[in-house]
Amino acid sequence: MANPHSFGTGIRATKAVIPAAGLGTRFAPATKAVPKELLPVVDVPALEYIVAEAGRENLKDVLIITARGKNAIEEHFDAAPEIEAALEQKGDTDRLARVRRSTDLARIHFTRQRVARGLGDAVAHAEAFAGNESFAVLLGDDIIDERDVLLSKMLDVQAERGGIVVGLIEVEGRFISLYGSIKPAGEVIDGVIEIATLIEKPKPEEALSNLAVIGRYVLPPEIFDALRRTELGKRGELELTDAMRTLGQDGVPIHGVVFSGRRYDTGDRQDYLRAVVRLAVEHPELGADFSGWLVEFAKGISADAIDEAGRTDQ
Ligand code: G1P
Repeated sequence: MANPHSFGTGIRATKAVIPAAGLGTRFAPATKAVPKELLPVVDVPALEYIVAEAGRENLKDVLIITARGKNAIEEHFDAAPEIEAALEQKGDTDRLARVRRSTDLARIHFTRQRVARGLGDAVAHAEAFAGNESFAVLLGDDIIDERDVLLSKMLDVQAERGGIVVGLIEVEGRFISLYGSIKPAGEVIDGVIEIATLIEKPKPEEALSNLAVIGRYVLPPEIFDALRRTELGKRGELELTDAMRTLGQDGVPIHGVVFSGRRYDTGDRQDYLRAVVRLAVEHPELGADFSGWLVEFAKGISADAIDEAGRTDQ
């Protein structure tokens, strides 16, 4: 059921762009001095999970787009000679390896977004980095559990069929206004669906389907020209979704890979807390003790404390 315009190069992308320029207002005041991307999920900053995912997919060059007040991100992906020396002296080789890991995941490059003009504008900063190649975009808010497959399949689909590939999840109607919404052009076959068009954060009644775009994209270099042709959206930002729709109208194929694995939206406080708890339970060093404590702790939570807000897990 290939789109007649499908044209893959057969070559998987080797570059990744990670926008990390947002203000993190949903997490203020924690984000006054600490970039939200560096908030720890157990003992690793959220952003390191994302860079590690890129590294695992052989996306050897990673461009992180930061902004004013976010220099700590560069520090994190640099060597830390004092901490390393102290750990060496203590003979803590395991932790030493974990400290050094952030510098070995990929070749990491940085650029800064000067004005907070949205995700599309952040991606536009990657034009020179991408050159003529397709590239992946990984949003720092979405941690995809490394045991579940998404980006790998997206890169394969893009190599085979070209154009744009986005990550999708099924959401309940009332949550669609948090996401880009897609209009399918066919059925889901082997987890892949052709997309007719897409819109940014519709009201529930305007949703095009129950499939929502999550923070993984593989984009062709034509996206930069489309971004230049795109007007600011409803929230006064340059939306990546709008530029992708423009490319779709130009005849560029858009596919979605439907994901049903474990995903943690660390940009949302509730989901962030769930991510910390889930990953702590599974942590090789902390898991057993922490789980024991958690079971006891949960017994002490009264049913009255659980209201509707506590049952919004998607
Ligand atoms: C962005 C995109 C949206 C997408 C979402 C996924 O929104 O604009 O289309 O569904 O990421 O997390 P944001 O969460 O940055 O507002």
